[in-house]
Amino acid sequence: MSFPLTSEQEMVQSMVRGFARSKIEPVAARLDRDEAFPADILDQLGELGLMGMMIPAEYGGSEAGAVAYSLAMQEIAYSCVSTSVAMSVNNLSCDAVLAFGSEEQKQQHLIPMAQGRSLACFALTEPGAGSDPGGMQCKAVRDGDAYVVNGTKAFITNGSHAKRTILVARTGGDRNKGLSAFIVENDSPGLSVGTVEDKMGLRGSNTVELVFEDCRVPVENRLGEEGDGFRVAMVALDGGRVGIASQCVGIGQACLDEAVNYARERKQFGKPIAEFQAMQWMIADMATEIEAARLLTFNAAAMKERGEPFTREVSMAKLFASEMANRVAARALQIHGGYGYSKHYKIERLYRDARVTTIYEGTSEVQRLVIARRELEG
Ligand code: CAA
Repeated sequence: MSFPLTSEQEMVQSMVRGFARSKIEPVAARLDRDEAFPADILDQLGELGLMGMMIPAEYGGSEAGAVAYSLAMQEIAYSCVSTSVAMSVNNLSCDAVLAFGSEEQKQQHLIPMAQGRSLACFALTEPGAGSDPGGMQCKAVRDGDAYVVNGTKAFITNGSHAKRTILVARTGGDRNKGLSAFIVENDSPGLSVGTVEDKMGLRGSNTVELVFEDCRVPVENRLGEEGDGFRVAMVALDGGRVGIASQCVGIGQACLDEAVNYARERKQFGKPIAEFQAMQWMIADMATEIEAARLLTFNAAAMKERGEPFTREVSMAKLFASEMANRVAARALQIHGGYGYSKHYKIERLYRDARVTTIYEGTSEVQRLVIARRELEG
């Protein structure tokens, strides 16, 4: 594949691959089965510099860049998709504080977040506002030196374990223009965890409601100006989509490797099923689609790293890679036959984990909307 990596990027890839295959892969099935949150693994990812990969060293990050981040996400997702989503949401939250935070906010909040000492979550979605954050109802009403927050956020990754929340809430005004962003410390009175989702996949990750009841957030914790909340969310999600596209490439590669190994070993009609053209064509299509997704993803990551506008390209990468992950997981399971439907094989978990990727951080329909608008504007 001809996307040249620097020697530093190759080092990150090899270091993360070694860690993921030796420390995460062996426990991934248990995390899924027991719905166990990988808190200790995330601590280790922090020590390895993977929780704030696009953050300068002076703010606690490893300043490895977006391409290295993509490589790391691919490797972590290959071994455990649940762990990779927790890591991605922390990196996304760090990006929001780097882009919009004051110097004081960076010193106080970004450093521990990027070092992996203060897990973060990103609270945008609500029960009635998913693809359309402009329809949100959670309110932050100014009262002296604080905002009083009331409302419920839904499907919040890391929510029960996070120490800090990047919150978007309505401070006044219509739809997108009336939103503001805040850094909320999760031990604040009035902030509690509501329903914990019982999910089809990503069962080692934590997805919850966050409930705000008269929760006071100091004015100095507002990110940017009043009314900047939608832009904070969109900028954070553009970066987040690099992470999810990369996660999908990791899922696709894991599915392909499982399918190839199985097809070589499994014998029917007196020979390994890998010798049948029906299997070979599925494997060829899977490999081709993964390669295409990887290139789209690296392209978007490299554009982000160079500071170029990359909204269109990252939506293309996220759209293609997430649809690819689902197609590839389905084919890989088909190659496994009945055994693929059993929890004895990793492909069963990958198939379930892949499903959400066309939904979170912007559905495929939202990505198409973003891409089409840019095509039609031009
Ligand atoms: N960067 C910067 N600014 C942006 C932007 C971007 N990528 N996209 C839009 N904006 C700006 C626009 O320029 C516009 O600014 P002005 O008002 O000054 O002109 C403003 O924001 C409004 O933009 P739109 O008119 O495009 O807004 P819209 O209401 O039509 O919505 C949308 C556009 C693309 C559908 C957007 O709402 C969207 O991305 N929705 C999906 C939300 C999403 O991804 N949610 C996922 C939740 S998080 C999650 O899943 C995390 C997890 O746990 C894993």
